[in-house]
Amino acid sequence: MTQDELKRLVGQAAADYVNEHVPEGAVIGVGTGSTANCFIDALAGSRERYRGAVSSSVATTNRLLSHGFRVFELGEVESLPVYVDGADEIDPHGAMIKGGGGALTREKIVASVADVFVCIADGSKLVPTLGAFPLPIEVVPMARVAIGRRIAQATGGVPVLRVKQDGTPYITDNGNEIIDVKGLAIDGPVALERDVNQWPGVVTVGLFAARGADLCLIGTERGVQRIDYARR
Ligand code: 5RP
Repeated sequence: MTQDELKRLVGQAAADYVNEHVPEGAVIGVGTGSTANCFIDALAGSRERYRGAVSSSVATTNRLLSHGFRVFELGEVESLPVYVDGADEIDPHGAMIKGGGGALTREKIVASVADVFVCIADGSKLVPTLGAFPLPIEVVPMARVAIGRRIAQATGGVPVLRVKQDGTPYITDNGNEIIDVKGLAIDGPVALERDVNQWPGVVTVGLFAARGADLCLIGTERGVQRIDYARR
């Protein structure tokens, strides 16, 4: 199977999970990226079952609207029974690197409100140790150089400003820049997330470790592998 076929497989598995476990009339949290898009497409057939969705990015909002979902602001809803999103890397404890698509801040906010985080990914995203995928950090632009120096000093990683194809800085939905930190092997993701979050100018670090996934649905050649981290 191609990587796209595996993404569609887990997108459908997540839609089946949500249809089975989430009560009718609920609002669901929806992540960003190509795997999250597969989930949105797979859920579209049962959108009447839900009051709507809270989105983690402008791109996801547009996709949800194109399928006829109602999109709510986070402040308009009282609860989110589930948040479904992809990941760039997932370690054996369900800690993740996210933000390859640049939506890490809104993803972390929406995920923090949800009762259950369902991560969907193809099998290539499972790793023993996080860090081969560059760690995104969303930063207030004036702090970018200072934070780059500090992360290099603290971890030995190499900070690289994310740029668009035309060479200008990539700007997030929140108007900030992203540093991608290369060459890491993150032994203590919870501690690194906590530390980096304290640095002035850091908006969000793309480590989802203190609040990792509750359930992963992994696309493999043999079908969907379910990993339950039993946090609840
Ligand atoms: C976006 C993300 C995505 O979930 C992550 O980059 C995975 O993307 P894809 O499903 O396209 O592989 O964190 O900010």
